[in-house]
Amino acid sequence: MRFPGGANGKTERVAEPEIESFEKLVALLNYPMYVVTTQADGVMAGCLVGFASQTSIHPPRFLVGLSPQNHTFQVAAGATHLAVHVFDHEHLDIVELFGGQTGDKINKFDRCSWHPGPAQMPILDDAAAWFVGKILDRFSLGDHVGHLLAPVAGSPPHELERWVSFGDVRDLQPGHEA
Ligand SMILES: Cc1cc2nc3c(=O)[nH]c(=O)nc-3n(C[C@H](O)[C@H](O)[C@H](O)COP(=O)(O)O)c2cc1C
Repeated sequence: MRFPGGANGKTERVAEPEIESFEKLVALLNYPMYVVTTQADGVMAGCLVGFASQTSIHPPRFLVGLSPQNHTFQVAAGATHLAVHVFDHEHLDIVELFGGQTGDKINKFDRCSWHPGPAQMPILDDAAAWFVGKILDRFSLGDHVGHLLAPVAGSPPHELERWVSFGDVRDLQPGHEA
């Protein structure tokens, strides 16, 4: 078995048992899920993202991994910013819309409430919190492409009790295979 994109950019050979134990471990982790939207040349896109994390405090930085298979990746390639949304459990339907459907087939924005926000990013009205980040860099993470963001605007939550996490969507069939 091979994992693409090792530290030196070359494909690395990883033994089966190591992969199995890695996969078992990450399947148990319960990390936050985000809906990431973007816009370029008047085309809007958005998908559910689990591969995302803050990476720096000073300066503030956040990394979003997008699969090149996704409609969102194609639109993000021409975009300057991404909008990162956190959802409370009560709006799981919107999270499932963005993770279970593809913009290649439907317009997700016809099926939810949104408004144009900073840098013309589509902001989802049901989100508990969001921020818009300027795309500083793009680089390979393996089979996903990292988009390094510098936050430029946002709406923090008053409180966030039951935010949607991986455990809520682990059985969701993605709109696109990764
Ligand atoms: C649990 C889960 C986690 C996901 N994580 C990511 C991710 O980190 N990055 C990504 O690009 N897609 C991820 N996806 C897949 C996309 O959200 C999904 O394929 C979506 O339908 C793509 O929509 P699009 O083609 O309109 O961009 C995930 C899907 C699920 C169900």
